[in-house]
Amino acid sequence: MVENRVVLITGTSSGFGRETARLLLGRSFKVYGTSRNPSAKPQESGVGMIALDVDSDDSVQNGVKDLLDEAGRLDVLVNNAGYVLTGGAEETAIEEAKAQFETDFFGPVRMAKAVLPTMRKQGSGQIINISSMAAILPVPFEGYYAAAKAALLAWSEALRHEVKRFGIKVSVIEPGFFKTNLGNTRKIARYTIRDYDELRERAMSTLDDDFRNGADPKIMAETVFRIITSKNPKLEYAVGSERRYKTLKHLMPQSTIENGVRRHWKLDG
Ligand SMILES: NC(=O)c1ccc[n+]([C@@H]2O[C@H](COP(=O)([O-])OP(=O)(O)OC[C@H]3O[C@@H](n4cnc5c(N)ncnc54)[C@H](OP(=O)(O)O)[C@@H]3O)[C@@H](O)[C@H]2O)c1
Repeated sequence: MVENRVVLITGTSSGFGRETARLLLGRSFKVYGTSRNPSAKPQESGVGMIALDVDSDDSVQNGVKDLLDEAGRLDVLVNNAGYVLTGGAEETAIEEAKAQFETDFFGPVRMAKAVLPTMRKQGSGQIINISSMAAILPVPFEGYYAAAKAALLAWSEALRHEVKRFGIKVSVIEPGFFKTNLGNTRKIARYTIRDYDELRERAMSTLDDDFRNGADPKIMAETVFRIITSKNPKLEYAVGSERRYKTLKHLMPQSTIENGVRRHWKLDG
């Protein structure tokens, strides 16, 4: 039964989250969304908005409690909230790297831990974690984002095995580049090392172009819908035009892939 299933999507104030909330609302799901500051941004009407910061234990616990008090159950959690930190591996401060993990890895972990007791009690539930193609093919000068998304992918696979017996399904989406607000809100490591300036600037200008030319986030929303309505959802779903590189990475010699990556990010001049 699809109708009236309760879905919670983190980060619905823009991008994938907003598109997914809109699509699921139109297909008879009961949708809850989150933003750190819902009153500051226009929200999708019909979505039950919860003020929630995935970085905070208290905020996550309170937000999930409010939802459960109102809806009485939760069928699907989409762990979507996130941001991108850019900066060289050597340039980025440990605190900046930890903050990236706090949102993009521990955020989904915190959310899952908050909803799993309810899903176990229900004997059913589904968690969809939004990772990234960067988890498969890391982007230079975006290494901590790639590491957080790769951690999310590995953790999701372990979680999937652990909760299957309780009727809970876990999947991961690995999007390529999509036209959302992600490029505009990207955080940049404060400290720079001059030796990396030229390389970083070339790679980051390519990154900006990739976001600008990214795919329509509606494709992501349709993917979430497909996973939610699938009888046996897979672990991984690569989405967007870059998904072919995931297949190629397994088929082609490492040196060919590495040269392609260096060419794309203009690392060799
Ligand atoms: N766009 C792409 O090309 C792409 C590719 C691969 C993966 N992804 C992933 O897709 C997900 C969605 O990103 P998007 O592209 O749709 O970007 P977006 O348009 O910038 O949306 C990000 C959402 O995350 C929320 N958010 C950020 N930090 C948060 C926090 N600490 N607590 C709660 N909410 C937070 C924001 O809400 P508030 O600011 O209102 O709190 C916003 O609604 C992210 O996990 C991103 O890494 C995107």
